Amino acid sequence: MTTDTTNLPVLIARARAMVTTGKGLLAIDESNGTCNRRFASAGIAQTIEMRRDWRALLLSTPGLSRCISGVILYDETIRQTAADGQPLTQLAHDAGLLIGIKVDTGAKPLAAHPGETVTEGLDGLRERLQSYSGMGAGFAKWRAVFAVDDRHLPTRACIAANAQALARYAVLCQEAGLVPIVEPEILMDGPHTQARCEDVTEAVLHSVFDQLVLHGAALEALILKPSMVLAGQASTARNTAAEVAEATLQCLRRTVPAAVPGIMFLSGGQSAEQASAGLNAINLSGEQPWPLSFSFGRALQYPALQIWAGQAANRIAAQDAVMHRARCNSAALTGAYGAAMETV
Ligand code: G3H
Repeated sequence: MTTDTTNLPVLIARARAMVTTGKGLLAIDESNGTCNRRFASAGIAQTIEMRRDWRALLLSTPGLSRCISGVILYDETIRQTAADGQPLTQLAHDAGLLIGIKVDTGAKPLAAHPGETVTEGLDGLRERLQSYSGMGAGFAKWRAVFAVDDRHLPTRACIAANAQALARYAVLCQEAGLVPIVEPEILMDGPHTQARCEDVTEAVLHSVFDQLVLHGAALEALILKPSMVLAGQASTARNTAAEVAEATLQCLRRTVPAAVPGIMFLSGGQSAEQASAGLNAINLSGEQPWPLSFSFGRALQYPALQIWAGQAANRIAAQDAVMHRARCNSAALTGAYGAAMETV
């Protein structure tokens, strides 16, 4: 069984546009809880107005579309208007950015599996996708998360439950005329080795593509958003960018069909510079079956958020910082990123 093919040519063209040469995605789809936590650590008030102003600042960064093809929004943002009354979707549209929307409702504890989660949001998803499409969304995102330890986690149950949900989400998106971003994130916290991360990533991606095929997803009309393969943050090991590139690509080549039009990495808690360096090394490793780009949240936003600090007077400096990271990551798509870019 495969998905209805009516929407396919449009979806394939849109998926390719998302990974078009030199561009990646800006993820600003943090839930209110996550956004508020990040605001709190930067000393910013955790209010709906501040979330709106931050997202409006990002979307109106001059020149953003030179390096960014699209933005992933959160439900609050896609419905929101800026302080001057303009819908935030209009800001994105005027900036030449494709609009995406996070449609999962979050990772919830997986029954009988302590320490693990399953991402929810399938109930009513068909109707919500129609409604987001009517608001201008052309693509969607669903994030599954996998905790790692040295032996037991993630369990087979956790992998299977999340892979099936990702696949069911993906076919519903394609049916509704939205390109699904399929995001299985291997969490970076924990003391695991890079080799363990590689094993887990490979097992997860095998299961995700098995389920995508089983459920009839059109592989040509989806984007994979994986994490890079690296040792856990609580481990003493630190991988070089070259090591990250080698392990990540080996994993992807073993698991991701060449039909997939693009792979766009999450940053996952790496520093902005680390994420750019890893992406750069990945793109320096020779030709691969798919374009390899970015769909970063923290690695694009974090330095700018510290500069903004919730103050209107810092708006332009914050936009400069966002644009700098966008340029660095765009350069990383051709292997042209280097330390020199960080000193200007
Ligand atoms: O789901 C996570 C975001 O879309 C990407 O965020 O780059 O901060 O990991 P991140």
